[in-house]
Amino acid sequence: MCGIVGFTSRNIQAAPVLLQGLQRLEYRGYDSAGIAVRNGEEDPVVVRAKGRLKILEEKTNSGLAIPGCCGIGHTRWATHGEPSERNAHPHITEDMNVIGVHNGIIENYTELKEKLENNGYRFYSETDTEVAVKLVDYYYKKYKVGPIDALAKTMVRVRGSYALAVMFRDYPGQIYTARKDSPMIMGVSDDASYVASDVPAILQYTRTVYYMDNLEMACLEPGKVTFYDLNGDVVNKDTTTIEWDAESAEKGGFEHFMMKEIHEQPKAIRDTMNSCITPEGLIDLSAAGLTDDIIRSIKSITIVACGSAWHVGMASQYVFEDLVRMPVRVEVASEFRYRNPILDPEGLVIIISQSGETADSLAALREAKAMGVRTLGIVNVVGSSIAREADHVFYTMAGPEIAVATTKAYSAQLIAMDILAMQFAYLKGNLDEKGLIAMTTEMRTLPDKVDHLIEDEERIQWFATKFSNARDVFFIGRGLDYAICLEGSLKMKEISYIHSEAYAAGELKHGTISLVEDGILVIGVLTQNDLYEKTVSNLVEVKSRGGYLASITNYGHYEIEDTVNFNVYVPRTDPHFAATLAVIPLQLMGYYLAVAKGLDVDKPRNLAKSVTVE
Ligand code: AGP
Repeated sequence: MCGIVGFTSRNIQAAPVLLQGLQRLEYRGYDSAGIAVRNGEEDPVVVRAKGRLKILEEKTNSGLAIPGCCGIGHTRWATHGEPSERNAHPHITEDMNVIGVHNGIIENYTELKEKLENNGYRFYSETDTEVAVKLVDYYYKKYKVGPIDALAKTMVRVRGSYALAVMFRDYPGQIYTARKDSPMIMGVSDDASYVASDVPAILQYTRTVYYMDNLEMACLEPGKVTFYDLNGDVVNKDTTTIEWDAESAEKGGFEHFMMKEIHEQPKAIRDTMNSCITPEGLIDLSAAGLTDDIIRSIKSITIVACGSAWHVGMASQYVFEDLVRMPVRVEVASEFRYRNPILDPEGLVIIISQSGETADSLAALREAKAMGVRTLGIVNVVGSSIAREADHVFYTMAGPEIAVATTKAYSAQLIAMDILAMQFAYLKGNLDEKGLIAMTTEMRTLPDKVDHLIEDEERIQWFATKFSNARDVFFIGRGLDYAICLEGSLKMKEISYIHSEAYAAGELKHGTISLVEDGILVIGVLTQNDLYEKTVSNLVEVKSRGGYLASITNYGHYEIEDTVNFNVYVPRTDPHFAATLAVIPLQLMGYYLAVAKGLDVDKPRNLAKSVTVE
């Protein structure tokens, strides 16, 4: 989604810093960009461009054409109004009194626009952001107040989500910010201050950051950030040091971030395990505040998430139900939040989210909290909204994930959920200590097995190249294998733009099999031994109708080669952990299909890394 960068210093030129920061946010997805820079007390110079950042760089001679030490920049992912130069941020008042950039959605912008029009304001764009900026200007002038009061009045009046960074003509060298439900951080160094919607934008300049809370405002001056609450009172805050280095957000010799992140999966899995599996093979969830008594008191589980994180939930449902014998529901967050859900007061709601900022997942978390139900966030980004608002947080240790298509965060989430399930099973008496240690010992072998699977990439590349012209692909599997299919199918469609669907294998003949015709690719996932033969039968049904078959199954099932045209063997493991291994060839397949088609693997069209609007 949209990205924000702001910078103010005494003597460092702002435009190159803004452009570099925006470059680091490109992975979030965008369709236009813009910057505004002030040179001392002069009015801001605003440059906007539709399309890739390099157009903006060309227009500004890499920033050198716009002198000045204070500025704001933005990459826009269109919500209100088409992607165009006119709709790109920053937006500005006619008299250049207020200029701003904004992430999020102002829900009541039509009503506010009307109010402003009645007060003489005219609008040149279709955006809600222009309305927000002009509303700040309206309150600033009407009540003759300072920037913080004008922002506070605006915040009370607007509905929706926002991270807003604004400059006022009367306050050169200063940037003002406001935040509700859209992430924003501030960084400081000796002689400069930074604001950004995500850490990578400023990491090359400073590791000392402040996390801005909901309904807070801030004033940035060179080397100093002051925070305010809605009453305009100063809020004292401590800085946090970002531990990961800038290189973790670089490609490190790989052609794409996605490939780099696929290769980082063994580490992501290992680090997540090491964060809570003791040297003796037991599990310690004290970092998440999940004591033995709390776990024993939980009677049911509801998992809520979006996209791949929802697929992790789907896989975990099989693992939890089988290991813990406890009711588990899995919900898509965007449905859950509007369905007036019935929650078990003695239950646990688990929100899974890499970014910790996904709007629907965050809203679901709040819904559960408002109903008084205990919540747990499985989150990758430290300090994100879900991490801060959930009652308990289990951090996945995947490190920064840049490619829009998730790989290592998905794998770390699977591990986190498996660990939870094992601990629940142990504390509720479904798994004895010996059984638990046997499982954690097996889990520790997964990173090497993942490595081994990644080594098989050339065969998968060959196969993907052969099918790069495919129009439709089906993934079929039963039980946990069906959950793996959901992720395999999403990986394929989101980056290779090939239509694909995941089906519970037994469900195919209830309608969808009519789509199977000569040469159509059907990929079976068969890691669950007790369901193996049933899925083979479903594959045979497809084959007799002309389908071309590929499969993923465990070493040992060599007879599969009598049925399918192409197979990838995965190392044997505890069946509960199968998703961690079987997903690897599917990730590689999606990746190589996209590469074969010459597509933008890391930034697929229309998609954003962190979906901070509904
Ligand atoms: C998957 O590759 C996508 N990036 C997407 O489905 C993602 O998993 C979803 O938007 C949820 O994001 P989150 O984990 O940051 O909440």
